[in-house]
Amino acid sequence: MKIAIMGAMPEEVAPILEKVGEYKVTEYASNKYYEATYNGVELVIAYSKIGKVFSTLTATTMIEKFGCEKLLFSGVAGAVSADLKVGDLIIASSLAQHDLDITAFGHPYGYVPEGKQFIETDKSLREVAKSVASEMGVTVKEGVIVTGDQFVCDLDRKNWIESTFKADALEMEGASVACVCDSLDVPFFILRSISDAADMDASFSFDEFMISSAKTSAEFVMKMVNKLG
Ligand code: ADE
Repeated sequence: MKIAIMGAMPEEVAPILEKVGEYKVTEYASNKYYEATYNGVELVIAYSKIGKVFSTLTATTMIEKFGCEKLLFSGVAGAVSADLKVGDLIIASSLAQHDLDITAFGHPYGYVPEGKQFIETDKSLREVAKSVASEMGVTVKEGVIVTGDQFVCDLDRKNWIESTFKADALEMEGASVACVCDSLDVPFFILRSISDAADMDASFSFDEFMISSAKTSAEFVMKMVNKLG
């Protein structure tokens, strides 16, 4: 069983590379892929660069070129739900693209013909996450995560996203990775730790907390890997 672990930014995968210690680096399509074995599990680790296009390329490469059979995403997100504070973890139950808009033709936001407005993550990987959370004694929220090619730092946009998608958190890669994995029939899991509240202070909060929140998420995902071997 070969497992992909991806993030969007170097800071999101650095704690994972540190944990695995030794790895083989392959350069492909202007990116680096790190192959390692961790507690007997074969891993392919990469960060995609930010946004839906680069994350689509990386997820597809991990599956089609490196033969990954499951995919775990680890990273940070902006909180939409008032329940979520900096450092909290959220597991995506489903994901949607908040910036996909052909409503001019009568379709709902986030939907294109022959696609899905919401894509569900793998239930059994979510169960693994819940058992890790209960062993660690931490609370992990499960909810809707939405994705768009924009850093949201505006209350009106955040409120619109909340009311339109009933979203709990937002980021810039999850739904595109979901689309790839769903289309290629690869079970996938998206975990995020909150770095900001997607409001007017978001960029400052992101700069202050991104590294620590990325580490929280990465450490949790590695505990999941221990259970997947
Ligand atoms: N990732 C972390 N915070 C974010 C925000 N406010 N908007 C988009 N992606 C994010």
